[in-house]
Amino acid sequence: MLRWLLLRAAGSARLAELSASSPIARSVVDRYVAGDTLDAGIEVARELAAAGMTLTLDHVGENVTNAEQTEHAAQVYRDLLHRSAAASLPAGISVKPTQLGLKLDAGRCDKLVDDLAQRAAEADAHVTLDMEDHTVTEATVALVERVHADGFTGVGCAIQAALHRTPEDVRRLTRLGASIRLCKGAYAEPDHVAWQRRVDVDRAYLEAARYLIREADHPRFATHDHRLVGAIKREAAAIGRPRDSYEFQMLFGVRPPMQRALVDDGYRLCVYVPFGTEWFPYFTRRLAERPANLAFFLRALTSGEQR
Ligand code: FDA
Repeated sequence: MLRWLLLRAAGSARLAELSASSPIARSVVDRYVAGDTLDAGIEVARELAAAGMTLTLDHVGENVTNAEQTEHAAQVYRDLLHRSAAASLPAGISVKPTQLGLKLDAGRCDKLVDDLAQRAAEADAHVTLDMEDHTVTEATVALVERVHADGFTGVGCAIQAALHRTPEDVRRLTRLGASIRLCKGAYAEPDHVAWQRRVDVDRAYLEAARYLIREADHPRFATHDHRLVGAIKREAAAIGRPRDSYEFQMLFGVRPPMQRALVDDGYRLCVYVPFGTEWFPYFTRRLAERPANLAFFLRALTSGEQR
């Protein structure tokens, strides 16, 4: 119930405004978001790269409401690819299709994804389409297929273990040769499309992970769940799969000691680094995953320390 309420709050403009104006709330946000600017994202990326990690950078924002916002988002990603290549960072990009206007103008969204895919290919950077709620799952998977048909094979997408359709999507994209980021799923979804109990989501994750470990070229396992991480390592070791042929992915600010331990043990670890001013929905999903942070955050919001 709490998770559901939090995920509903992700769309609240009023709460977003309140959070942005509270310095204490901001200190909680800073744990998960690299900063407001591209410079801040690049700076964090440099530090993580120096520690042996690879990166995928996300300019936070989603469900844009006009073409200007879409064009702005695309321009930030172009600048990001340029800056990252100039700094020789081992970084790709994570993009939300609705930030590029998927729900506003699907044709324009296609063109922007093609343009980013082209630029990313030139910079030897991987593009992952983040997976949003189930109303855009089919459109996102189809977008990956279309971009591959145009020859841009460095584009993949996230797939959410929580969705009932996932086993089929995993096979569909693996047959295509598209790289999958397997995650549990961060959205409140109705039960006719998604598993509701954690135990069912974890079971579905493990089943998909087992398939990917055996069949996929470079699967990306996005989870901080140490039981799943352990199971994936064991599955890979059991079939002699080299550690550098797959990767774990974790979010900036979540379980940093576990991230470092994976790198120290010779596993590939890619950190998802969000930056930008439209962080409220992203941040709310992080709170929903970790309700322990919520009490502190709410106290901060209501403490009256506004700027
Ligand atoms: P789980 O939630 O069970 O957490 C395991 C442990 O990790 C917790 O016990 C806690 O210790 C720690 N932890 C997890 N989340 C935390 C948090 N926010 N703060 C502090 N500790 C936390 N989802 C989606 O729908 N579409 C997408 O495109 C993506 N993309 C994506 C990329 C990457 C790199 C990651 C790591 C995750 C995503 N996700 C996502 C989010 C994903 O679906 C899921 O909501 C979170 O990863 C939390 O699930 P875990 O697998 O970590 O397990």
